[in-house]
Amino acid sequence: MRQHRIVLLPGDGIGPEITAVAKLLLDAAGEQHGFKLNFEQHPIGGVAIDASGSPLPASTLEACQASDAVLLAAIGSPRFDVLPREQRPETGLLSLRAGLKLFANLRPVTILPALIDTSSLKAQVIKGVDLMVVRELTGGIYFGQPRGRIEADGDERAFNTMTYSRTEVDRIAKVAFELARDRSGKLCSVDKANVLDVSQLWRDRVDALAADYGDVELSHMYVDNAAMQLVRNPRQFDVLLTGNLFGDILSDEAAMLTGSIGMLPSASLGSEGPGLFEPVHGSAPDIAGQDLANPMAMVLCAAMMLRIGLKENDAATALERSVERVLAAGFRTGDLMSEGCTQLGCAGMGEQLLQAL
Ligand code: IPM
Ligand code: MG
Repeated sequence: MRQHRIVLLPGDGIGPEITAVAKLLLDAAGEQHGFKLNFEQHPIGGVAIDASGSPLPASTLEACQASDAVLLAAIGSPRFDVLPREQRPETGLLSLRAGLKLFANLRPVTILPALIDTSSLKAQVIKGVDLMVVRELTGGIYFGQPRGRIEADGDERAFNTMTYSRTEVDRIAKVAFELARDRSGKLCSVDKANVLDVSQLWRDRVDALAADYGDVELSHMYVDNAAMQLVRNPRQFDVLLTGNLFGDILSDEAAMLTGSIGMLPSASLGSEGPGLFEPVHGSAPDIAGQDLANPMAMVLCAAMMLRIGLKENDAATALERSVERVLAAGFRTGDLMSEGCTQLGCAGMGEQLLQAL
């Protein structure tokens, strides 16, 4: 039987609840499709700070590096906002991305027909949306040096550096060109080249690479316009390529086209080694531990992990179908609730998903 080593990182807030649902479904999918997943669970984020003082213990990173794929739920809690940056949960996540060299973050946005009326946008605007945000994940202003806070001239100043090298732009742009080639052949690169030098290099490199991808229709868009176009006419987009900070913002915006950020999975990949699969949503501390969370983004992450990380395509499709079926049958978590539907908690939704599988 095929075996895969999976590291589960439940993390903070609603993380443990949605991880439990994903694990249940993954075990069942393995049984149905002839493979076994060997799970190891490790702390990251706030729970790791509480246990060991570090948001990414060395043992967690080592376990991830030795695995076939990593499934992370969420990190973060307002409890830690007062700590210095290197001791905050978010730093654990950023160190994990850097430690696994996951420079390519793929965030697919598709509209499930059953949810078309839960979006805050009109159905006619979002119908048929199927796009992919390709976000650079280990560079840009998130990691650029120098950064810090200083006292200067009787004032206080803080600064970060938005920086990309040619090599960094080229490798993420190639991922986006390849994806566009496999999809509808359209790529839109998003930058702020009218103001930022770093964006001008970005644009120059994307243009230079376009010569190798004559079959891909390339366009460029400034980030402010892209933010507007995403809600004005999202169907114009197929693959959106952008840097770390712009991608962070635009992917949350794109997520809301689907009605709930609770539906969106993501994959973070390097050029080798295990991928990291995590929902776009956060740890939702306000509803943690109350059986209110929507586990579907996490289940869709598990599906992405099966397809991209483990090449278990049939099992991946089976998980995605179970989400579609449960929604079509009218089951909803609170974030998606609308008239005439049946509201379920996180565990109840897990049971329905399992039955649908
Ligand atoms: C995301 C999150 C993270 C990010 C935070 C939690 C550090 O917002 O994955 O989009 O900014 O990358
Ligand atoms: Mg974000």
